[in-house]
Amino acid sequence: MPKRKKKLRLKKGFKRFLVYFLFFLIIGIYAINQGIKIHKQFEYEKTYEYKITTIGYPLEEAKKLSSTLPDETLEKILAEEKYNELYYKFINEKYFLTKNIFKYVEYYNENSNLDYTRVVAIVNVHANEGWYNIEYETDINKGYTMLVNKFYHLNNDYKRTDLVDFNLKYAYAENSAAEIVVEKYDEMQAKVKELFGVQLMINSSYRSYEDQEIVYKERQKVSTKYADSVAARPGHSEHQTGLGVDITSLSHHSGEAFGESEEGKWVKENCYKYGFIIRYPEGKEDITGYDNEPWHFRYVGEEVAKKIYEEQITFDEYYAYYIEK
Ligand code: DAL
Ligand code: ZN
Repeated sequence: MPKRKKKLRLKKGFKRFLVYFLFFLIIGIYAINQGIKIHKQFEYEKTYEYKITTIGYPLEEAKKLSSTLPDETLEKILAEEKYNELYYKFINEKYFLTKNIFKYVEYYNENSNLDYTRVVAIVNVHANEGWYNIEYETDINKGYTMLVNKFYHLNNDYKRTDLVDFNLKYAYAENSAAEIVVEKYDEMQAKVKELFGVQLMINSSYRSYEDQEIVYKERQKVSTKYADSVAARPGHSEHQTGLGVDITSLSHHSGEAFGESEEGKWVKENCYKYGFIIRYPEGKEDITGYDNEPWHFRYVGEEVAKKIYEEQITFDEYYAYYIEK
């Protein structure tokens, strides 16, 4: 056979092979791709993100819920078998705590006049349970950030060991507090004097369990409801921590008048620089459990006080979110 013909046939054969090869290659790649796609879809359908969409959640919400919540919470949401917009609303709240998600929804359903932020705050501090309905022991190891409120209490005999008396120039008689409180208050009162020529005074500071019992019972003569709005039950007062102080001034004796005074307003805005916070602010009564007390300050240390001041939250909220979790 002539060499040229042989070459031509070989070339043709190779071309045919190439066509078949490419054809099967393309089919093969397509089949593999389809297989991967089916597998991926199969795997995706096993995820909570997908499962949640099947009961009516928009994809964006399903993504957020499934990436934020633990499996057991997602299982409970799935078991409801219907869409509830509240989960996504609460998850987007700044102080959202996963452990409280169902409590937020329950409390909101009972109090839908409240906004989501307020519901989160109330539930985080346990106020949804009702004042004094649950009891926790204060963790005194938390030092300057120990929490005492209507749910957290101190033992009857708790008394800190570093109590010192206030200088009588800046306080009425028989007032003592933790050493750091006395030191920082002294600095603050000096500043107020420099700025306004007014003398701050400590009205009340450390109170023992028994002292608090007297304070509370006196108010209770009016009614228990009234007493609970202005005074803590014994064991539940910050005054027993030695970190709480009632401040007024020589120019404005009453707590209310002090709150309205220029020195009172200055202290409210600047006390965080000395480590103090306003403990029972106006408008937060359903979170703290007390009426507005512009005279009651609590020492928590400068860093924590600054955060509380900047975030405009109560100490109860701070503790729930940043310490207790
Ligand atoms: N007045 C505050 C709440 C107290 O009695 O501790
Ligand atoms: Zn007080």
